[in-house]
Amino acid sequence: FRFLRWTWRLTYTLGFAGLAYVGYGIYEVRNPSDQPEPDASKKTLVILGTGWGAVSLLKKLDTENYNVIVVSPRNYFLFTPLLPSCTVGTIEHRSIMEPIRNFLRHKKAAVKYYEAEATKIDYEKRVVYINDDSPVKGDVCSTEVPFDMLVVGVGAENATFGIPGVTEHGLFLKEVGDAQRIRNRIMDCCETATFKGQGTDEVKRLLHMVVVGGGPTGVEFAGELQDFFNNDLKKWIPDITENFHVTLVEALPNVLPMFSKQLIEYTEKTFEEETITIRTKTMVKKVTEKYIEAESVGPDGKKVLEQIPYGLLVWATGNALRPLVKDLINQIPAQKDSRRGLAVNEYLVVKGTENVWAVGDCAVANYAPTAQVAAQEGAFLARMFNQMAKTHEIEDELADLSVAQEKAPGKPERDDIFSQIKELQKRLRRVKQIGPFEYSHQGSLAYIGSEKAVADISWLSGNFATGGTLTYFFWRSAYLSMCFSTRNRILVLLDWTKSKIFGRDVSRV
Ligand code: FAD
Ligand code: NAI
Repeated sequence: FRFLRWTWRLTYTLGFAGLAYVGYGIYEVRNPSDQPEPDASKKTLVILGTGWGAVSLLKKLDTENYNVIVVSPRNYFLFTPLLPSCTVGTIEHRSIMEPIRNFLRHKKAAVKYYEAEATKIDYEKRVVYINDDSPVKGDVCSTEVPFDMLVVGVGAENATFGIPGVTEHGLFLKEVGDAQRIRNRIMDCCETATFKGQGTDEVKRLLHMVVVGGGPTGVEFAGELQDFFNNDLKKWIPDITENFHVTLVEALPNVLPMFSKQLIEYTEKTFEEETITIRTKTMVKKVTEKYIEAESVGPDGKKVLEQIPYGLLVWATGNALRPLVKDLINQIPAQKDSRRGLAVNEYLVVKGTENVWAVGDCAVANYAPTAQVAAQEGAFLARMFNQMAKTHEIEDELADLSVAQEKAPGKPERDDIFSQIKELQKRLRRVKQIGPFEYSHQGSLAYIGSEKAVADISWLSGNFATGGTLTYFFWRSAYLSMCFSTRNRILVLLDWTKSKIFGRDVSRV
């Protein structure tokens, strides 16, 4: 009985302590403490972007060491791996967005944030020109921001390869707005297809959902869209059942080229079962309002040009350079051969510059343009900048001590200062030991629809390939744990539960 009483007391105390801890955590998140203002006497570190690279840098950066300024047209961080789920309403977009203001408000020292686009970096003048291109503009909507150190983390834009009609008629999948446009277009196509008197060919066209690009973006979106149709659309709009069809068009011989052969085959087989058509070796050459023109290789090896009508066209053919990055490349002679982004050295310094670093999709460091790479690069820069600040601090202290040693009145004082100098020099050597950036690949994951996922995981210096429903649960738990904040995790969990219980929302806004 005594034992039971003690166990009860312990459980009660632990439970209470746990609750108090969670309560304090929530209180702290809601009520950040005062921050010291940015110190203008310190070096000005300008960070362009609020994506994976920039935010991962900001997360680990000790903002007391620099006068930090962030410039980005997007005042939130976006958890892109779950963006395809937003196109069909499995997850609501706000659940994967984290306001940059909330995040910056919790840093040790305040950080200035300007919601603006950097329009030009003048490397010689050490100035970034910025422009407020939001709908609401004040008297001042463009200005310049000088920098001592600059981190370029502006990501990439959508590649169109100059194919006519893509920008006018295709929908991309990179930002929240893109996901909303796709969601509306899907519903619009379904509603218009059921309009009174619509002809059979037109119904077929409207319900033909074409995805161009068989990389992970295209594959994940096609899987989500087919899920939406199977689980919800055909229940609420049975009229579309016969004609709704998803086609994935890919120029190469297979989809998901970065995954292992067995997972490519597994994905293609799963798509076949889900009745998604995969058109490999098919290159889109032209896009019009109602059809795409694609060149494929026929069984006789001859090239065939055909017109494929569509209602929805999602264009997911990878990344291209942003004009800002192109312009910077043109200013630096050492970058003359850079085609895919800013060439950086092993410390992520933009080659040919002294005080400019680049992270993520706009940098070329021989890694794939993924969130994983961008996040590790950002974290590396934060460690390096923190170390650099410590180094300067110790060097200043050493300089002061040398002066003090010269002025010391007697030998005991000089000896005392000498031992302090020795100690500081030892610390300086330790602090200066920062190795180059090394990327550690954790693996690749992709959702392929019907509650299946594929994963190529790096494990014990080997590779482990797996696909199926268990991998899908792994995919979900991995991305849930990687969400930016506890708030995001809770919202995503609620969205998953909501769409499982009530189905996805089929309204158009
Ligand atoms: P981004 O995250 O794109 O951020 C760029 C930032 O720069 C944004 O804040 C933008 O507003 C800002 N910016 C743009 N122009 C300017 C300017 N002129 N001035 C100032 N700021 C500017 N990778 C994975 O590893 N795993 C995944 O599962 C995965 N899923 C993905 C799903 C989708 C749908 C997409 C599109 C990508 C996915 N990726 C994934 C890739 C990953 O999102 C990118 O590699 C990653 O976002 C790159 O990070 P970044 O910081 O370079 O750029
Ligand atoms: P991608 O570059 O990986 O794939 C684009 C595909 O489009 C290529 O296979 C290419 O052959 C094809 N293509 C190009 N032009 C074409 C045309 N005219 N006609 C037909 N096909 C054409 O691009 P994606 O999927 O947008 O990914 C971009 C980056 O983001 C990649 O590095 C990817 O690894 C990463 N990413 C990772 C995800 C994950 O890990 N789950 C999810 C989404 C993106």
